[in-house]
Amino acid sequence: MAQLEAQDLAQAVIGRMADCKEPRFKEVMSALVKHAHAFVREVQLTPDEWMAAIQFLTATGKMCDEKRQEFILLSDTLGISMLVVAIEQAQGAAALRDAPADQRPTEATVQGPFFWPGAPQLELGADIGAGHAGEPAYYHGRVTDTAGKPLANAVLDVWSGDGEGFYDMQKGPDMALRAQFRTDKDGNYRFWSIRPSYYPVPDDGPVGGMLRRMGRHPNRPGHMHMMLNAPGHERLITHIFVADSPYLDSDAVFGVRNSLIVDFDKHAPGKAPDGRQLDKPFYTAKYDFKLVPSAA
Ligand code: BEZ
Ligand code: FE
Repeated sequence: MAQLEAQDLAQAVIGRMADCKEPRFKEVMSALVKHAHAFVREVQLTPDEWMAAIQFLTATGKMCDEKRQEFILLSDTLGISMLVVAIEQAQGAAALRDAPADQRPTEATVQGPFFWPGAPQLELGADIGAGHAGEPAYYHGRVTDTAGKPLANAVLDVWSGDGEGFYDMQKGPDMALRAQFRTDKDGNYRFWSIRPSYYPVPDDGPVGGMLRRMGRHPNRPGHMHMMLNAPGHERLITHIFVADSPYLDSDAVFGVRNSLIVDFDKHAPGKAPDGRQLDKPFYTAKYDFKLVPSAA
């Protein structure tokens, strides 16, 4: 039978994959076709609207280069990146789901587009914020496994925008406000940077236009990105969020987790916890990370 009715089209497309040799690909594509067709039927999409969508996706692709990934931004602002992160972490931590609160792994959140591999490897305690806009902040804490065993020599990649909300990549060719540290024998880390400000995700492209049409703002609350790698443990990509930052309740990319919101305590000029003397006010932020053993 050559003719197919509208309600049969999705099943016909899925049926054409009978010879597909990749079970997972077939599963994903079948669900994609099923839900995409259901969406078109639900909203009764018109040809003009479908063409507008194709033009939007074309413009999104054209906006991408080595430094700008508009498709990731689209995924982030539609909450899909965070959903994928949450699903992956829930599966990785399934064995620990019923663990007591103090043994739960640190929650993950979106990586975002501003990770830049190859940041300088610095000694613990180094200052990556000196000379950049923003108020000084001392970050410290401990990296352990979920049972509380300290993880020595864990690699901690950190990156953030400056105190005015701009990342190095947005400003020029040089790396800034990012580094790699290794925990000491007791799993401790410490470094100086700035207290990050809230900032808008890049909103001068098609995704920015979409946000405006949706009546949404493009802002993310202040946060420090952290990526932790320790042998024998799952990689953790997360942030710590500044507790009193604007936009904690309406992060443009839906990345906030309550467990990642950290008080940045303000101190008068004077002696910092590492003995350093500061002639201006500074902040301290303490956060302990718990990583999931790879076998868990
Ligand atoms: C970021 O936190 O750097 C970020 C995350 C998602 C989209 C844009 C920026
Ligand atoms: Fe960020």
